[in-house]
Amino acid sequence: MSEFKVKAISHLNAEFSVPGDKSMSHRAAIIAGLSSGECEIRNFLPSEDCLNTLKAMGSLGVNYDIIEEMEGYGPTVIRIKGRNMKLQKAPFPIDCGNSGTGMRLLAGLLAAQPFDTELYGDDSLSSRPMGRIINPLSQMGANIESKGAKPGCAPLLIHGGTLQPITYEMPVASAQVKSAILLAGLFCEGKTTVIQPAETRDHTERMLAAFRVRTQREGNTITIRGGQVPEARDFHVPGDISSAAFWLVAAAALNGSRLLIQNVGLNETRNAIITVLVRMGAKISDIVRSQEDGEPIGNIEVCGRGLVGTVIRPEEVPNLIDEIPVIAVAAALAEGTTVIRNAHELRVKETDRIKTVVDNLRLMGADVTEFDDGMEITGGKKLHGAVLQSFGDHRIAMAFAIAGLFAEGETIIENTDCVNTSYPGFSKHLQAIMKEKSDHAAFEMKTIIHQSSWH
Ligand code: S3P
Repeated sequence: MSEFKVKAISHLNAEFSVPGDKSMSHRAAIIAGLSSGECEIRNFLPSEDCLNTLKAMGSLGVNYDIIEEMEGYGPTVIRIKGRNMKLQKAPFPIDCGNSGTGMRLLAGLLAAQPFDTELYGDDSLSSRPMGRIINPLSQMGANIESKGAKPGCAPLLIHGGTLQPITYEMPVASAQVKSAILLAGLFCEGKTTVIQPAETRDHTERMLAAFRVRTQREGNTITIRGGQVPEARDFHVPGDISSAAFWLVAAAALNGSRLLIQNVGLNETRNAIITVLVRMGAKISDIVRSQEDGEPIGNIEVCGRGLVGTVIRPEEVPNLIDEIPVIAVAAALAEGTTVIRNAHELRVKETDRIKTVVDNLRLMGADVTEFDDGMEITGGKKLHGAVLQSFGDHRIAMAFAIAGLFAEGETIIENTDCVNTSYPGFSKHLQAIMKEKSDHAAFEMKTIIHQSSWH
C-alpha cells in the first residue's frame, strides 16, 4: 500500500495541466457508446472510476479501441464505436469500483434495457445511498433490487424493461440523480422532466447537446424527449477543475507563488472554487480560451498572497461539493474563521467527508468545530506534520497532501492508492512541486501512442 511523505515548501512556481475531467469522462464513455457511430474521445481520464465505466460499456457490447495511453495508467484517447442505442446483456455482473457516478448513471441507462444487469462496487460504494436513483427509476416502472447488507445499497440487480416518462422533483441536488433520470428518459416514449432543488453540474445536458440530443432547460427544470439518438462525433475532455483545485489552494495560500494550470474545464456549474478562493483573498485569473464541444476550457493563473476566512454560501455548495475537503485545508491556512454549512451531502461521499476532514485537521493541530452539516475552522495556527489516514478516499488523500506542504515537520498520508480513482499521476505532480527549486517548473505525463484495432 502506498503512502505520501510530504514536507513543507517555501516556493511554488509551476505550470502544467491536470488529467481529464472525471464527470465528463464517465459521460463520454456512456454517450459515445450509445451514439450512432464512431467517436474519438480525447483526454479521457484514465482513472479507475472512469475505466470501470468504459469497461462496463464494453461488457454491454460497445467496442472501443485505445489510441493513446498515459504511461502506467490507461487510455487517454479512445475510439468508441456507438451501438445506436442498442446495448446487449452483459455476460457477468458489472464492477463500478469506487464510483457513485458510474453506478448511478449506468443504473439509469440499464433500467431501460430489455435485459437484467447486476451492478456492484467496493465497500465504500456498497454503503452509499442508492435509494435516490431507485425511487425515481421505480416511478418510471423499473424494477431494481438492492441486495446490499445496508438497506437501499449496492449490489443492485436491475430488471430492465420499458419505462414511462415522469416528472420528478429531486429531494437532493445531485447531478448523478439528474443524469440517471435523463439517461433513462432517453429510452422512454414522451417527455421526462427533472426538477432540481438547486443547480447542479450540467455536463450531461451539454454533452447530449454536443451529440445533437436536445434537452430543454427552464430554471432548474430539465426536460428530455425520448427516442433521440446521440449523433456520433469526437469529444475533447477538458482538464478536471476538481483536480486543479488542490494546486489552486496550495498556490493561493503561499505568498509569492505563481501557478498556471492549462486547458482546464471552466464550466460555471463547477467553478465556485475560484469564486471562493478569490473571496478568501487569492489573486486568480481564469480565462476561457475556447468553448470546445460545448464546454468552456481555459487557463487558471494564481499569484499567492495568503488567505483569509470566508462563509460558504448555501447555493455554492453543489458547485464545489468535491472541493470542500481542500477548501477546509485552505481555511486552516487562512487568517480568521471559515464556515461551511448546508453540506450534509458530504456525509455520503466516498467517506463521511465531514468526519474524515475534521479528524485529519485536528491531528494536524487545526481548530475545527464539527456540525451535522459542515464545520467551522479558525485558521492561522501553524499546522504540524502528522501520520494521517486517507480512509481510502482519494480527495482526502490529496487534500491532506496539500496541508502537508504547509506543516511543520513531515506529514505521512497512508493508503494513497485511492488517488488513482480520480487523479492518476497526482503523486508525480506532488513530487515535482516538492522538488521544484528552480525559478520555474513545467511538467507533463508521458503518453504512449497505440495503433491497435477494435477488440
Ligand atoms: C458528480 C456529481 C457529484 C459529485 C461527484 C460527480 C457527477 O455528486 O460529488 O463527484 O459526475 O455527476 P452528486 O450528484 O451526488 O452531487
